[in-house]
Amino acid sequence: MSSPREPIFELIVVSEDAQGNPHIAPFGIRRRNHQVLIAPYRPSTSLDNLLQQGRATLNMTDDVRVFAGALIGHECWTLKRDNQAWVLDSALSYQTLKLQQVEDDELRPTLYFDVLESKTLSAFAGYNRAQNAVIELAVLVSRLHLLPIAQIKQEMQYLHNAISKTAGEREWQAWQWLAEKIAQYPESR
Ligand SMILES: Cc1cc2nc3c(=O)[nH]c(=O)nc-3n(C[C@H](O)[C@H](O)[C@H](O)COP(=O)(O)O)c2cc1C
Repeated sequence: MSSPREPIFELIVVSEDAQGNPHIAPFGIRRRNHQVLIAPYRPSTSLDNLLQQGRATLNMTDDVRVFAGALIGHECWTLKRDNQAWVLDSALSYQTLKLQQVEDDELRPTLYFDVLESKTLSAFAGYNRAQNAVIELAVLVSRLHLLPIAQIKQEMQYLHNAISKTAGEREWQAWQWLAEKIAQYPESR
């Protein structure tokens, strides 16, 4: 159960398949008692990997193209190995995780991880409204099959204010990829 005072942070989770190939996906994670909680909806490749391998790397990045690119299958990042970690070229920091406990659920299990290692690579540059707008649109794109398309387009119109006022090149690009995905969605034709 989540407490109302427990914030959710949107990060990139890198898991590994049985062959050691990395898989990246955005997840909203929670932190509780020095542990990291990840709750993937079934079915999920990340969930399969996390349960099978019992480890992951959390990447904190302000390059929102990674969130959009991971969702639409556009590989716009470079990952490098640093000991046990998979690190994005744009990572500000990362943490390696080891699975400790699983709270099983048919729809959405919760996985509890211990943090093995934390590294900071760059400083936080400050809040950017366009980055937030891209994250919000990415969440909507991940729910295209669940939400009415009219609602998504209405929210998109509001979010676009922050894009037009505060986006840089990376945010424009990510926004465009997500907007194309929405335009191509069958129910929006
Ligand atoms: C910002 C953001 C946060 C997300 N958080 C979650 C989450 O907490 N749980 C989840 O199941 N999916 C979440 N998603 C959707 C997954 O990233 C997406 O479904 C992804 O494809 C995971 O599936 P996979 O593990 O099969 O790749 C989120 C998407 C975005 C853009």
